Amino acid sequence: MAILKILQYPDIRLHTIAKPVLEITSATRKLIRDMTETMYAAPGVGLAATQVDVHQQIIVIDVSETHDDLLVFINPEIIMCDGEVKREEGCLSVPGTYEDVTRAERVTVRALDQQGEVFSLNAEGLLATCIQHEIDHLKGKVFVEYLSQLKQSRIRAKLKKHQRETL
Ligand code: NI
Repeated sequence: MAILKILQYPDIRLHTIAKPVLEITSATRKLIRDMTETMYAAPGVGLAATQVDVHQQIIVIDVSETHDDLLVFINPEIIMCDGEVKREEGCLSVPGTYEDVTRAERVTVRALDQQGEVFSLNAEGLLATCIQHEIDHLKGKVFVEYLSQLKQSRIRAKLKKHQRETL
């Protein structure tokens, strides 16, 4: 397994739209293992392939505190959503930034598992927020883009400064 490099906002590659996975190969499964290890090491509760510069529709999520409830979604699609809730979000691609985002309170997501079987899952709470956040990544969207232009430019300036200092 390997720890992958996570793209940092405002890297334009984070705006790439991921393509559906057509065939689940051993390379796909290796990528998923590496993404999982990278997410746990960060540590984070979710990671989209987009964030490691692989533009395929794959996300991994584990919102448990014990890191033993891994969910893998290949070609995920939200097929139902309901309600509205505001929750503070962060992102491994936007270190040190936590902001409230309003999203659907409950979602039903349909995806393929690592064996290529279709499954669907009803989610609420942190998991529902996380699923929507990670699916956004696959569409090239970073959560800060829900914020005001002013906040976005402040965050970009802060991160650029931080990136210069750590080079
Ligand atoms: Ni994120």
